[in-house]
Amino acid sequence: MSPRSYDWLSRAAGVGDAHWQLVAQAAIGPRATVLEIGAGTGNVLLKVKRAAPGAVAIGLDTNAASLAAAARKAVEAGVELRLDLGDAAHLPYPDAGVDRVLASFVLHHIPDEQQPAVLHEIRRVLKPGGSLHLLDFTAAPTRRPRDQRALLAQAGLLDPVQLGEGEAYAPTKPNSWWHDTYRHAAENVLLTLALAKAEGVTCVCWYQFHDSVLGMPQIADPDNVEYHYGLMNRDLSPKPSLLAYATAARVLDRATFRGHLTFSDPETFGLWFDTPEGPAVVLWNRADGYLLNTSGERTDGHFPAPEVWVDPWPTKTHLTVTAGDAVRRLDSIGRSRQLTPAQGRVTLTLDGSPRVFYGLTPVAAGSGTHTLAG
Ligand SMILES: C[S@@+](CC[C@H](N)C(=O)[O-])C[C@H]1O[C@@H](n2cnc3c(N)ncnc32)[C@H](O)[C@@H]1O
Repeated sequence: MSPRSYDWLSRAAGVGDAHWQLVAQAAIGPRATVLEIGAGTGNVLLKVKRAAPGAVAIGLDTNAASLAAAARKAVEAGVELRLDLGDAAHLPYPDAGVDRVLASFVLHHIPDEQQPAVLHEIRRVLKPGGSLHLLDFTAAPTRRPRDQRALLAQAGLLDPVQLGEGEAYAPTKPNSWWHDTYRHAAENVLLTLALAKAEGVTCVCWYQFHDSVLGMPQIADPDNVEYHYGLMNRDLSPKPSLLAYATAARVLDRATFRGHLTFSDPETFGLWFDTPEGPAVVLWNRADGYLLNTSGERTDGHFPAPEVWVDPWPTKTHLTVTAGDAVRRLDSIGRSRQLTPAQGRVTLTLDGSPRVFYGLTPVAAGSGTHTLAG
């Protein structure tokens, strides 16, 4: 693995580490006033006090029980937190009194229509030169990082210094939301990371590296659906998802996103990256929809997924495009295959699995859109 790939992997971390990254990124001064909206049970504010014991740490939350838990933890830790019951859309604080506002996994709780009011309130209470540091989920397609960025800009908040993806998962056990097989999980890992890169995300926090239950590895319970979200098995042997992670790191670490590709077939999607090896194009087709395996009752508590080499995508879509002398196709687990163009054209077979292609010719298609030369 290249050092750059290693960098990508080591930037990924669990939620506790994400909290630390948030606090570190906020560069809290020794006497700063820090407000966390949606402070919950105080996990972030306790880290703030460890990083800057002289800081004034204020936590606001709508949930009294969470604040009571935060107060208990503060007593146990011997630190002082100011904890206020209230709504982030109406901050009970004067203008320009806060050096840092932290928002960790709270904005996704706030309905779209209230987001501008919350961001406006954050802007109001920040001192000149103060900053907001936020960590959150992106629930595509409604809450894409680029939409969140636009909302931040509208509220007069600074451009984000670093955009991070709050949590990513590699679920490999059917549950009530996801029904991913080992193969789908690997494909989704590659696609998640490619989409994140396209959105300007520079840091991805993985929910858990190996199967366990977040925060409770000592009582990890395979009957808990959340146990099965790791990139690796519990004995640290790799799942296909880990290979997909390495594939994404190899392709994307030194890549620059150039644009989304559009096609006459509305179910075909593409991302264009420039890389030291030339343009790398990620292509996939959604003719079979977004959710798989949603039918059928899965009563077996243990893992009924087909073997990883069984191709689950029924619909194959063909796309003929202009190509250079050689086209290389990389699948999600990093298997490379050479395709041979004939008379400068190549026919690609697409399905729900994202694949990376080198040797294709992305072109501008007018009004800011891009496509592949046909
Ligand atoms: C997932 S918890 C995150 C807690 C903490 N920030 C962390 O990262 O561990 C989200 C918290 O946001 C709070 N919350 C949701 N909507 C809120 C609002 N409008 N104003 C303030 N807090 C809110 C919830 O009560 C909950 O405690």
